[in-house]
Amino acid sequence: MADKLGFGVDIGGSGVKGAPVDLHRGKLADDRYRVPTPVPATPDAVAEVVREVLDHFGWRDPFGCTFPAVVQHGVVRTAANVDPSWIGTDGQKLLENVTGRPALLVNDADAAGVAEVRFGAAREHDGVVLVSTLGTGIGSALVTGGHLVPNTELGHLELDGHDAESRAADSARDRDELSWSDWAARLTRYYQHVESLFWPDLIVVGGGVSKHSDKWLHLVETRTEMVPAQLLNNAGIVGTAVLAAEHNHKKHHKH
Ligand code: BGC
Repeated sequence: MADKLGFGVDIGGSGVKGAPVDLHRGKLADDRYRVPTPVPATPDAVAEVVREVLDHFGWRDPFGCTFPAVVQHGVVRTAANVDPSWIGTDGQKLLENVTGRPALLVNDADAAGVAEVRFGAAREHDGVVLVSTLGTGIGSALVTGGHLVPNTELGHLELDGHDAESRAADSARDRDELSWSDWAARLTRYYQHVESLFWPDLIVVGGGVSKHSDKWLHLVETRTEMVPAQLLNNAGIVGTAVLAAEHNHKKHHKH
């Protein structure tokens, strides 16, 4: 049974959350454990918290971890909404050193995208699927035929002279006190731009606000079918656990 369990950690702006994951069903195998993100959220401080989350469950095996920025082969490359000291940090190696377990560090939206394609709103879709997360920023995951193109960063497309996420993320709705319909108008501009560049077959919209998609999703006008994400809060944890298990399996078979 043990080989069917993985472990995922989700590093967010306010909390670091983790849980063991049933890799076949794409569900958490236990309640998730959350520790507030340290302030300042420097690499060393955050890595300590990740260790605390693993220790809480006594998890000793390989694990996956999400990060809300570009993560290229374990190295954090951007810091739109995170502490700038992460830029250039080999976050994956740091996590391995601090926790003493093999780790895989991936972009948060990429992890969520993998979870939605494997287990959620785009289950077994073999076309071009764009998973878009609306939160503090806008995250994106582009998956085709089950394969992920990592770090697409479509939240940072330029829109009307602005970084798109600064206009259309859920945090912009809050900041500018937008009604659902005013926000949906911004999302329409954004997603029409995205679909004219990538021509996805399906757009899955995630992030906390996708829980209330009945209030605004039908107001967003796109030619592409748009559906709410299904794994909600747990998509990152599930996706990164799955990716970590596969990564470890591959590594194992190389040697
Ligand atoms: C970051 C992405 C991240 C997204 C959602 C953006 O600001 O650049 O890497 O996926 O926020 O957290």
